[in-house]
Amino acid sequence: TTGGTDEQKRRAALAAVESVEDGMVVGLGTGSTTAFAIRKLGDLVGSGLDIRGVPTSFAARELAREAGIPLASLDEISAIDLAIDGADQVATSDGALVKGGGAAHAREKIVDAFADEFHVVADPSKLAETLSHSIPVEVLPTARTTVSAAVSDLGGDPVLRRAERKDGPVVTDNGNLVLDCDFGEISDSESLATALSAIPGVVEHGIFVGLADVVYVGTADGVDVVEF
Ligand code: A5P
Repeated sequence: TTGGTDEQKRRAALAAVESVEDGMVVGLGTGSTTAFAIRKLGDLVGSGLDIRGVPTSFAARELAREAGIPLASLDEISAIDLAIDGADQVATSDGALVKGGGAAHAREKIVDAFADEFHVVADPSKLAETLSHSIPVEVLPTARTTVSAAVSDLGGDPVLRRAERKDGPVVTDNGNLVLDCDFGEISDSESLATALSAIPGVVEHGIFVGLADVVYVGTADGVDVVEF
């Protein structure tokens, strides 16, 4: 949610929506950039587009429902044609992403990985040569301390994410906690992703390697399209 302007986000989102066709099941991502795509899809549904949306979070579901998009839940569909989702950071070298700024990365990863095509919507403030953003790690509440120790062993600095308008931690849509883990500059995101996934008590982490097919970057005067 940092950096980009609404105009940049809107341009990226509208470009991604152009790939949506009649009959598709569409994964609906979370965050302020994808929100422009969800609203646009709602408008298109209003004028006859026939799709079903699979939301990646409570927030995406609410927004899609308001926009009038027919919804399906993850456990009742057999395929997702296209997922449109934002990112907190995009590595321009290989398309690896950091996600989870909205604590929705567990369901986002399920939807984005399952989709035949995964299109990222972003603005220039998200781009980096290699990943350096802190990595959100969703953990079972009981494993908060043990996972923190394991993250430290991997060279990370884990901080429990706290809620802004509540005394206490952020609790995910799945009832878990989030550790924001600073690893500095990440030279090998794939190895770190594998190591984090192997820690007992980790539900999901926010490194998305090899999943993004296209990144739409909204700019001041257009959209840059990067394919991976
Ligand atoms: C949600 O958990 C994140 O993965 C979002 O997709 C990410 O934070 C992008 O949000 P913005 O589009 O608001 O930057």
